[in-house]
Amino acid sequence: MSRIPQHFIDDLMSRVDIIEVVGTRVPLKKAGREYKACCPFHDEKTPSFTVSPTKQFYHCFGCGAHGTALGFMMDHDHLGFVEAVEELARQVGVEVPKEAGGQDRRPDDDLYGLMEKTAAFYRDELKTSEEAIAYLKSRGLDGETAGRFGIGYAPRQWDSLIKHVGSTESFLRRLADCGLIIEREQGGWYDRFRDRIMFPIRDARGRVIAFGGRVLGTGEPKYLNSPETRLFHKGRELYGLFEARQALRDIPRLLVVEGYMDVVGLSQAGIRWSVATLGTATTADHLHRLFRLTETVVFCFDGDRAGRQAAWRALENALPGLSEGRQIRFLFLPEGEDPDSLVRKEGADRFQDRVDGALPLSDYLLEHLQSQVDMSALDGRARLAELARPLLARIPDGIYKDLLVGRLAKLVGVDPDRLTGIVAGDRPPDRGFRPAARGAPRPGNARSSLIRQAIALVLQHPSSASAATIPANLAEVTLKGLPLLCELLEICRETPDIGTAGLIERWRDKPEYSHLLALVANELLISEETAGVVLGDTLRQIVVREGPERRVEALLTKARSGGLDAAEKEELRDLLSSRVSPTGTGSQDG
Ligand code: UTP
Ligand code: MN
Repeated sequence: MSRIPQHFIDDLMSRVDIIEVVGTRVPLKKAGREYKACCPFHDEKTPSFTVSPTKQFYHCFGCGAHGTALGFMMDHDHLGFVEAVEELARQVGVEVPKEAGGQDRRPDDDLYGLMEKTAAFYRDELKTSEEAIAYLKSRGLDGETAGRFGIGYAPRQWDSLIKHVGSTESFLRRLADCGLIIEREQGGWYDRFRDRIMFPIRDARGRVIAFGGRVLGTGEPKYLNSPETRLFHKGRELYGLFEARQALRDIPRLLVVEGYMDVVGLSQAGIRWSVATLGTATTADHLHRLFRLTETVVFCFDGDRAGRQAAWRALENALPGLSEGRQIRFLFLPEGEDPDSLVRKEGADRFQDRVDGALPLSDYLLEHLQSQVDMSALDGRARLAELARPLLARIPDGIYKDLLVGRLAKLVGVDPDRLTGIVAGDRPPDRGFRPAARGAPRPGNARSSLIRQAIALVLQHPSSASAATIPANLAEVTLKGLPLLCELLEICRETPDIGTAGLIERWRDKPEYSHLLALVANELLISEETAGVVLGDTLRQIVVREGPERRVEALLTKARSGGLDAAEKEELRDLLSSRVSPTGTGSQDG
């Protein structure tokens, strides 16, 4: 995603000292091997914010905020990834290289200039098109708002933009790179946008990177959008974000709506804090951007079935990013209305009342799950826990998760600690509800916690990967988390100098990122010196248990489909009984 080479980030993370980075912004006090302070991310009187110089990692036991020096710069100073990298590089006195290799060295600035020139052309054309002006008037849009959003009009001709910019080979190539013109099959080019109201999409710095074009009146497609280009990645951008930042100094909340006209209409009504996803579901990347600017994100959806489906998808995408201090709410509109039509109909005050009453994520989650089970049935409650389990597993550990687990435990009628165990493990909850056979370890579960333990070890002591003996057949083990573990081991062995923070940064844009952060935040109580031995031991246990486990699975499958012969039955009995009294001496949990 970023054009900054990975090796540079690795190197930067090993040069930067988090104590210095955090220390210049928060008064740190030494406490044992770590440093402490009152947390800059939430209000507190007694310090629960700790910074570890060995892990190069900060963690707040109060609000659960944690991350690397890079993450701290992003969250504390509200910087984008590239900005934070640049700032850290400046502090340690190195220059940020751009990814080498011809292609990326093409000057993007030219394209930005061309996009701006195009936007200006469309704006000018709007001034002289009676039809376009009449259409916007019919939708109740005033000139001031249109101006703030830089709305324009693309003329009807097939080549007005080409004529305006120029049709030399180099202009045509750049127009095509910007997604503004399309090549004909029989040769030659034509304008992509014709006879449409043009909405420029701007990036965080206000540069025009794409357009959305709406037909005047009816026609298909209603909206035509720029294709993905070097400047424009649909899944990252949010329409209206730049304009919201322009309008407001502080943004206490941001409303996420569906359409261009919703953002524009709300803005005209005085609600200048809405953004639209560009015809895609809300991604984790979107949310990350939003929470850099605000504490509360309110998703707004139609009340119809499609809207509810989209809302649930947004919730699922939001779970990994949940933490204390971040609020997500859901606003469902009456069927047949969108924010633009509703705010026009009932005014900004009534609309704001609706936003104030939006459903908190936790309420929405629990209500939605409860609507899927019969709570009066005997197994209804167990079923509720089962439905909640994969969702809760995606929420990073912390107060927010604890609260949600607490509420769920109440609904289900079990002790919260018990539920936490069920949620954390990967066994189905119905087994969790039965009184467990005393002392019987659950091998699948024990092994996945072995993997978790190994991952935590490698993350916290990257040097252990080179110190440990890695079993030859480790990669053959088929268990969740194993590919991740292998990738970590490989990186550590290839990059012996890499530290915890450098490792973590490699996962910044991946789904496992928050899990890894949580594993680093948990203190392991294993010293650097012994880490290699412990890791080797853990890996061995993972492999040793692989053989019998697979055999048990195979036998059970066969038993279900065709049945086992006497010898196989015997074998299965043996295997199962050896589970209860494990021969290994290693720890059962992590
Ligand atoms: P809607 O169909 O809800 O339209 O599409 P709207 O925003 O209410 O538009 P108006 O009020 O009729 O002008 C919502 C969003 O979905 C994307 C656009 O981003 C649009 O704003 N969309 C919709 C497209 O990309 N293409 C389409 O053909 C339709
Ligand atoms: Mn609309």
